[in-house]
Amino acid sequence: MKKYHGAFIKNEREIGCLRQANRMVANILDAVGDMVKPGITTAMIEDLALKMCAGYGVKPAFQGYCGYPYATCCSVNEQVVHGFPSNRPLDEGDIVSVDMGVEYEGFVGDAARTYAVGNVSDMARRLMQVTEESLYVGIDKARAGNDVYEIGAAVQAYVEKAGFGVVRRFVGHGVGARMHEKPEVPNFRPSMPGLVLHNGMVIAIEPMVTEGTYEVDILADKWTAVTRDGKLAAHFEHSVAIRPEGPEILSISDRGLNRETWRA
Ligand code: MF3
Ligand code: CO
Repeated sequence: MKKYHGAFIKNEREIGCLRQANRMVANILDAVGDMVKPGITTAMIEDLALKMCAGYGVKPAFQGYCGYPYATCCSVNEQVVHGFPSNRPLDEGDIVSVDMGVEYEGFVGDAARTYAVGNVSDMARRLMQVTEESLYVGIDKARAGNDVYEIGAAVQAYVEKAGFGVVRRFVGHGVGARMHEKPEVPNFRPSMPGLVLHNGMVIAIEPMVTEGTYEVDILADKWTAVTRDGKLAAHFEHSVAIRPEGPEILSISDRGLNRETWRA
């Protein structure tokens, strides 16, 4: 595979595998959206994801990655990312971020969405809306010739204008044969110039947006990231290929590109 400043340039076959891997992830996230309601547990989400992976004959990408114990990350309310599935039932008014990855034919698909559990507060709804919209604002900058940091600059401007915060501690990333490849894709504007995007690069763009402070803490389980002020956080992620025609979102399900799935 060709490399440009450490970032892999994928050919058509490789992008095809990444498209398939991400389609499976998006199908799983659609199915998660169908099941999320008050009373279910995030352990049930994990179970569904595992069963669908088995049905597709693919490996969950997160399980075992740096010792992460589950196939999904299920992060509720003030949990930002990397929450463990649990047996605590979700309550009406909760929001739950589900992040999922699979490995298909040696290539990794990676995407995430936040869902409303029943009726949620106007604040929660606006947070999810702004986070999802900021993802598309970022995707629009994922074009050959752009500095990769233009993505984060656009995400940050959009989010902060809405009065919310962008998490600095976790970033998006190149994705391919490995889940985390170069370049890093921050959701804020770094002070230095970044790598110039080229056609054939594939990146996961994943804004994590907070109601209050963007500072996070990690719980004693060593994984779960929570907002320092205990306020809400949301997370949306797509894997995107840089193409001559512009950004191609790879994490599209058989139902198509479903936006605002949190509205349910
Ligand atoms: N989408 C997340 C990421 O890109 C998921 C990683 S969770 C882990 O970093 F457990 F696998 F690390
Ligand atoms: Co990711």
